[in-house]
Amino acid sequence: MRETGNATGAGEPAGAVLLTGGAGFIGSHVAAELMARGRRVVILDSFLTSHPGVIARLERLGHGQPELVTADIRNARALDRLFATRRIGAVVHLAGLKAVGESVTDPLGYFDVNVAGTLTLLRAMQRHGVRDIVFSSSATVYAAPGAGVTENAPLGALNPYGRSKLMVERMLDDLAAAGGGVSAISLRYFNPVGAHPGGLLGEDPRLPPTNLFPCISRAALGTGGRLKVFGTDWPTPDGTGVRDYIHIMDLARGHAAALERIGEAGFAGRHVPVNLGTGRGYSVLEAIAAIERASGRAVPHDLAPRRPGDAAECTADPGLALGLLGWRAELGLDEMARDHWAYASAARLPGIAA
Ligand code: NAD
Ligand code: WQD
Repeated sequence: MRETGNATGAGEPAGAVLLTGGAGFIGSHVAAELMARGRRVVILDSFLTSHPGVIARLERLGHGQPELVTADIRNARALDRLFATRRIGAVVHLAGLKAVGESVTDPLGYFDVNVAGTLTLLRAMQRHGVRDIVFSSSATVYAAPGAGVTENAPLGALNPYGRSKLMVERMLDDLAAAGGGVSAISLRYFNPVGAHPGGLLGEDPRLPPTNLFPCISRAALGTGGRLKVFGTDWPTPDGTGVRDYIHIMDLARGHAAALERIGEAGFAGRHVPVNLGTGRGYSVLEAIAAIERASGRAVPHDLAPRRPGDAAECTADPGLALGLLGWRAELGLDEMARDHWAYASAARLPGIAA
């Protein structure tokens, strides 16, 4: 394990892990996984798209209490205070905006949070000698989605959201190459779904959802109208779109593996993008059938034209994640559907929007 330049505060030798956006869907599950492994976790979040009630739920999992700093990643003073008063060993940077449609109508808002916000964070890390970062990137950076996409496939984004992810990846390339000993992994998530098996954590979308699983469960619950199946004439086995859905707990374990890897002395000075996917694709109709099995309910749906901008198929080649991180996804579609349904169908806890 490398020493960090930031030696303030107490804690385990490696220091705490700072999770920006740690109260969100993915961040809260990463927090749960790291705390279960005995890591100390500091969550920095502005609660723009999440709720403070998540912190109490994390405590209820029984692995201790995450420390909470309520702030915006664009606030350099708040970041300076945070790094100056705690021993932070590494950062997992999840905070950001992620709605593709919103990014088209408000591109500057997306570049402000996702790009300028990341720049502010990286500068603060540099000032305080924190050199290890895991970044939440996305399979949306691939120019030509298809089956078994590898990390060296051509890059190119279709919208400002995707471009913001590419810009940050380029920034991390240059920073790692600059010789300051920065170690970075950009995790290119495929399609994260599911929830913590305990039922305490899950996805609470701020905007009406456009992602498949939340749309399916809303249709099953009767809260979102009938599901539209976008496209039945794709060149796939059943004609509907195929994606690499990955259970959120597998995704969380992938972050723990990435943190271990960048903490190794030999990794310093590198920025490596790594796919987090299962390598196995499922169609829209297979996803519907999985929720029907998990819920015992029919999912009312209609066949509809293709959604603009969609691809027939997008699945990962997960080989690098296995080779570099020793990680592979373990949970399948039925576990994803079971845990997604358990959370989506449960009565909301006080303080959490329905
Ligand atoms: P989310 O909206 O649930 O979580 C994002 C968190 O960041 C929220 O808690 C929000 O309050 C916080 N946040 C937003 N702007 C902030 C700011 N300026 N300062 C501080 N906190 C701020 O989203 P998520 O699904 O958990 O996504 C986390 C990350 O993963 C994002 O960067 C997203 O782009 C990326 N990602 C998500 C998916 C997906 O399908 N969910 C896929 C690929 C990549
Ligand atoms: C999956 C499949 C749809 C809804 C998006 C973002 C991407 C990333 C993950 C962050 C497709 C079909 C969907 C519906 C449907 N996010 N579908 N009816 O498009 O792979 O990726 O989320 O980085 O940036 O673009 O995921 O869940 O929207 O769609 O038929 O009501 O489900 O056409 O085939 P996608 P998705």
